[in-house]
Amino acid sequence: MQKLIAGNWKMNGRLGDLDAVAAIAGAASAYPSVDTALCLPATLIAPAAARVPGYAIGAQDCHMAVSGAHTGCLSGAMLKEAGASLTIVGHSERRAAQGESDADVRAKALAARAEDLSVIVCVGETEAERDAGEAEMVVLAQLAASLPDEAASDWLSVAYEPVWAIGTGRIPSTEDVAAMHGAIRAALQARFGDDGAAMRILYGGSMNGDNAASLLAVPNVDGGLIGGASLSAEKFLPIVAAAAAAN
Ligand code: 13P
Repeated sequence: MQKLIAGNWKMNGRLGDLDAVAAIAGAASAYPSVDTALCLPATLIAPAAARVPGYAIGAQDCHMAVSGAHTGCLSGAMLKEAGASLTIVGHSERRAAQGESDADVRAKALAARAEDLSVIVCVGETEAERDAGEAEMVVLAQLAASLPDEAASDWLSVAYEPVWAIGTGRIPSTEDVAAMHGAIRAALQARFGDDGAAMRILYGGSMNGDNAASLLAVPNVDGGLIGGASLSAEKFLPIVAAAAAAN
């Protein structure tokens, strides 16, 4: 399975940072065996898509409605028109700060798909849930309720992002990553059959150039969702190179 390394810039990036987008897109083209993408703040989608035509520019959220009285929100059609080809939905920061439920995330995934956007659905446990021995139960419950029945490997990827590993410099052991990704894989196959074996499962949370090779070598780790280390070509490209080497 071709690995996907997607950057999530979160609320970082202004017009002056389009040079970094161009540098990443240009350098990533040297690794045709790896899919890469950058999920940018909404304000940068159109200028980035104009700057790097053909490169996969994504959004970080997509509203479930087509239009209407949803102040401050953006529909799939708006994101598509701006130049996005994919979007993240259900990131833990939005689940926590915006109170997004699994049902919201499922509806958002379907709304994005209706506009031909690829979708990365995020799941992940908190530190308290891991300490209580509930990590797998929590993640599998989120997965079951966040994925629509229409999910298919040609448009949907799952990102396992332990909340306690995001932005902290801490990562789970490779054994714990293998166990969680294996459990997610089993759930995907049980629900979607053969296509569940083909859905990409990304790891996210403090992935960087130093730890990418070992994380990407874990079975069922089909790529990464990268926050801080996606903000510059210097930090992002070593992760892409590790993915190419792991193929
Ligand atoms: P960091 O790579 O900064 O830990 O962020 C991970 C993340 O939340 C990506 O969506």
